[in-house]
Amino acid sequence: MFDDVSGRYDFLNRVMTLGQDGAWRDAMWRAVPEDARVVLDLCTGSGVSLPGLRRPGRVVLGMDVSFAMLEVAQEQQGRTGWAPRLACADAFHLPLRDGALDAVTIAFGVRNLRPRPAAMAELARVLRPGGTLVVLEASAPAPGPLHPFHAFWVRHMIPLFGRLSPDPSAYRYLSASIFEFGHGPQLVADMTGAGFTLAREKAFLLGATRLWVARRSGKVGQNHTGDFSAVRNARGDSGENRVVPAAGPPPRRAPGSGCRRHERRAHRRALRYALVVYAKLNAALPVGTSSSGPRCGRS
Ligand SMILES: C[S@@+](CC[C@H](N)C(=O)[O-])C[C@H]1O[C@@H](n2cnc3c(N)ncnc32)[C@H](O)[C@@H]1O
Repeated sequence: MFDDVSGRYDFLNRVMTLGQDGAWRDAMWRAVPEDARVVLDLCTGSGVSLPGLRRPGRVVLGMDVSFAMLEVAQEQQGRTGWAPRLACADAFHLPLRDGALDAVTIAFGVRNLRPRPAAMAELARVLRPGGTLVVLEASAPAPGPLHPFHAFWVRHMIPLFGRLSPDPSAYRYLSASIFEFGHGPQLVADMTGAGFTLAREKAFLLGATRLWVARRSGKVGQNHTGDFSAVRNARGDSGENRVVPAAGPPPRRAPGSGCRRHERRAHRRALRYALVVYAKLNAALPVGTSSSGPRCGRS
């Protein structure tokens, strides 16, 4: 699925996050300790999170299970004269020794890793004790006054934008998987169960995206058992979630370039359109409320 959407992935992500993802990634990069020498960006996709991890003397690895996404990453990062090390690898079976990493970042990828306890156990294996895990992820609407608007955006606008993609079903999956992911408590429980200690949590854009920073406790080689017997691919075994991926931005371009202007116009139109449609249809649509709970868009 990610192979299919790799071409327009970055552009659509920027539009759907209203251009905010750059700031969110800055926060993710800042959460990585400056002295981390070996850092993995897991589910790296088109590699948009890689340049911000670059530091003198640091080895930056990018891994993803989608080869087409990695080809985009290779193409884009190759232009910069800097070379992160890219590998096509499954998050549940990383080709790394126990305790090999000082830090791991995952931007808009952890939602796809199920069963999550098994993914967390593998991350605990490859991180050294005291190592840092930074997760940035799109979050389901939390209870509160903005719940209806947020739920409307995730349930209706993301699939609508997805029609611009070569595989619109991927964006229906994205919408459904955000609801399935929830707004964080289960992720924190899965991290804790794998031996991580939550250090910090932060919400962006009124909770549309969240950042979690955790430290790996325990010893090298100490594995926290996960259930590896039922690893699900991104679409889900039942096939009901015909769609996916999350947000991530494209490489920074020169301010005022044609692409930037085009993106800014798209953001403004998207927001205006969302507000108009929301206002017109809100009464008739099955928008979830904090009390009714989210509907995942599954038929
Ligand atoms: C929504 S994209 C995020 C890409 C990038 N991190 C960003 O911020 O734009 C999720 C990525 O997770 C990758 N992915 C999904 N399941 C994976 C797995 N089991 N192992 C490694 N990567 C996986 C997909 O191929 C996809 O590139």
